[in-house]
Amino acid sequence: MTDAAAVALPSPVAILGGGSMGGAILSGLLAAGVPDLRVTTRTPTRAPQPAEGLAVLIAEQDVGANRTAVAGARVVVVAVKPAGVPALLAEIADALEPGTLVVSVAVGVRIASMVAALPDSVVVFRAMPNTPSAVGAGVTGVAAPPEGRPEDVETVAAVFRTVGTVVQVAEDRIDALSSVSGSGPAYVYLFLERFIDAAMRLGFDADEARALVVGTADGALRLLADSGEDPAELRRRVTSPKGTTERAVAVFEQRDLGGIFDEALAAAIARAQEIAAG
Ligand SMILES: NC(=O)c1ccc[n+]([C@@H]2O[C@H](COP(=O)([O-])OP(=O)(O)OC[C@H]3O[C@@H](n4cnc5c(N)ncnc54)[C@H](OP(=O)(O)O)[C@@H]3O)[C@@H](O)[C@H]2O)c1
Repeated sequence: MTDAAAVALPSPVAILGGGSMGGAILSGLLAAGVPDLRVTTRTPTRAPQPAEGLAVLIAEQDVGANRTAVAGARVVVVAVKPAGVPALLAEIADALEPGTLVVSVAVGVRIASMVAALPDSVVVFRAMPNTPSAVGAGVTGVAAPPEGRPEDVETVAAVFRTVGTVVQVAEDRIDALSSVSGSGPAYVYLFLERFIDAAMRLGFDADEARALVVGTADGALRLLADSGEDPAELRRRVTSPKGTTERAVAVFEQRDLGGIFDEALAAAIARAQEIAAG
């Protein structure tokens, strides 16, 4: 995990593609008070609202929008869909200042392919945020190029720290990280869905089941954070020998929950490799 010691936030920052993920990162940077932000979208439909210190540029209305946004930027976040990355990089390549840190969040787009599309004078990073970034509670993996300088890694990490926690990994670990934290929110929601369904089969109505299950999950996570204990220790404290919880936990373990996780993560990694191979 990167050191959260105060690292000056970079400015200007350009976010190319202010959609769900780009918009979440933009909110974090706005809240952190970065003085010069630029964001682009293709159409005006979902464009972020202009704010003090924020320029909103629409590519459909201004063919130079992305080039204007990156001019003089210290950090450029590429947050368009993966299929749009090659054309976007070709568009901005000669408008980037030497030394600009270009960081892509596009799933499956490798650092080497971006390096090949951009001038040698810029430094290319890859990041893998997750959806809780939208509420400032994300987990982002940041991968630096082999020659990446520690101060540049810190600058990129500082951007993503405005929307949560940052973990630095080697690029060849990004698919593994994505199978855990990128896809992870879906595993948590699936668990909650099945848990709520089971509560309803016991006769609770939908509102009651949601209150019981989501309230329990929220409380358990808060207790985990506040206590600083390991999940295993907190589980042991709820699980009295020969008690009811012990019986229930044994059912999960008989189904080899750990093995199910291994299989699920391996499936996500295999799919990431298929996507990267085209
Ligand atoms: N959402 C996630 O949880 C998540 C997690 C990790 C990584 N990512 C990555 O984040 C990237 C964006 O995903 P998303 O879910 O945020 O998609 P999204 O909501 O569709 O956002 C894409 C944005 O790019 C804009 N755009 C498209 N072409 C453009 C261009 N030529 N110039 C400027 N802006 C352009 C779109 O504008 P319009 O809306 O006007 O078309 C939209 O604002 C993807 O590469 C994805 O792999 C997403």
